[in-house]
Amino acid sequence: MTPSAATPRTDIDVRLITETEFADWNRALNTGFLREPTSSEENLEARRRLCFTPGRSLGAFDGGRCVATFRSFAQELTAVGGAAVPADAITNVSVTPTHRRRGLLTRMMAQDLAAAKERGDVVATLVAAEYPIYGRYGFGPATWSTEWTVDVPRTGLDPRRSHPECGGRVDLVDAEDVRKLGPDLHERLRALQPGAVSRTDVWWKTATGAVRFHPTWNEPFFAVYRSAGGEVEGMVSYAADDTWGDSRQPLNTVRVNWLLAVDPAAERALWRYLCSIDWVVKVKSGWRAPDDLLPFLLPDPRAAAVTTQADWLWVRVLDVVRALEARTYEAAGSLVLEVTDGAGLAGGRYRLRASEDGTGTCATTTDDADLTLDVAELAPLWLGDESAVRLAALGRVREERAGAAREADALLRTSRRPWCPDMF
Ligand SMILES: CC(C)(COP(=O)(O)OP(=O)(O)OC[C@H]1O[C@@H](n2cnc3c(N)ncnc32)[C@H](O)[C@@H]1OP(=O)(O)O)[C@@H](O)C(=O)NCCC(=O)NCCS
Repeated sequence: MTPSAATPRTDIDVRLITETEFADWNRALNTGFLREPTSSEENLEARRRLCFTPGRSLGAFDGGRCVATFRSFAQELTAVGGAAVPADAITNVSVTPTHRRRGLLTRMMAQDLAAAKERGDVVATLVAAEYPIYGRYGFGPATWSTEWTVDVPRTGLDPRRSHPECGGRVDLVDAEDVRKLGPDLHERLRALQPGAVSRTDVWWKTATGAVRFHPTWNEPFFAVYRSAGGEVEGMVSYAADDTWGDSRQPLNTVRVNWLLAVDPAAERALWRYLCSIDWVVKVKSGWRAPDDLLPFLLPDPRAAAVTTQADWLWVRVLDVVRALEARTYEAAGSLVLEVTDGAGLAGGRYRLRASEDGTGTCATTTDDADLTLDVAELAPLWLGDESAVRLAALGRVREERAGAAREADALLRTSRRPWCPDMF
């Protein structure tokens, strides 16, 4: 009998890889991501440091050749209210084109999520290459991302003036300063920003060229914003091209790699700095929260045009009780959720009680459900971005009691949207 597309191939071995198998695994990963298959020795070493997690790097092997890759690592995800929950961060997912649609991703995912559940992770996280892949495994799009392209001459900012006012100052710094100052700033941001994730030491090394993950490295510019009191409250990494039009007209574009700010004054100063660099006519913002302040920091917000708007961090709840108890609530109230989970990891009926002080408790219950939803719909509600009323209109949440979706929104939705600044 010929195996159907969905029939798992059990003759292919799915297992943890050893460090000595990394080069073979890396070739499979490059192949799946349509990159040159063989990495140089130097590049392979950098990749080994970044992409090998002992005990959590899976591979699928057919006749001794690696044909699929999957890796997870320990991460923390900031819940609404600022608490960090342990997350199983999934990355480096690839299946070689000769072996696609034979259930290899499904096998690797099942193995990894079972281990995460066993370890006590509250959620699993990933950034999806394509929208249709991960919903079937209980993941839902929990943060979204927007990129703006700012038409600088249209902003209304006066090119004769300098713009980093706000009482503080903007200074250019070197990569070494970023490695010193960046991690603390990011930790402060992470405690304020639902949807943010922890960064490793290697993240900062890669972002500053100390570890060269890609074959080519172009040193970016780095600038910091310090408040009037001298405290570092914002930082940006950006690059510029060198484009000139006819009649010697400067037409340069600045691309923001990342911009972190723990205070609106820092945000304002850094965006205005970027929009006032001589020769620059376009600023590409990089991946920002959909409700980022950027457009409204400009005299003419229409100068900032949305160029990308898409789902970003996908979250899969593994422990409903701990997830719901980790976050804070916008109002007091009580709700019974019937969570279905085909994988058997987080399903059940749960009562959430939110108090006046914003804290919540959660326990399994036999009371009648107010809302029925798949675990994939829970994550976007949990991080505060999605509306239960909207999901009910889409048929993805079922109201068991009239008005329950509206009550869920009053409890769960947040005034600012969650945002994950990182790709991993
Ligand atoms: C995405 C990818 C890992 C899927 O691996 P795979 O082994 O082919 O997936 P499976 O065979 O386990 O598929 C399981 C199910 O998901 C579906 N599916 C898998 N990838 C899909 C995609 N890109 N779009 C839509 N459906 C997809 C399959 O059709 C199958 O559906 P079924 O159960 O209804 O039959 C693989 O196609 C790949 O490597 N793509 C390129 C790299 C990439 O995108 N990696 C993900 C980075 S986040």
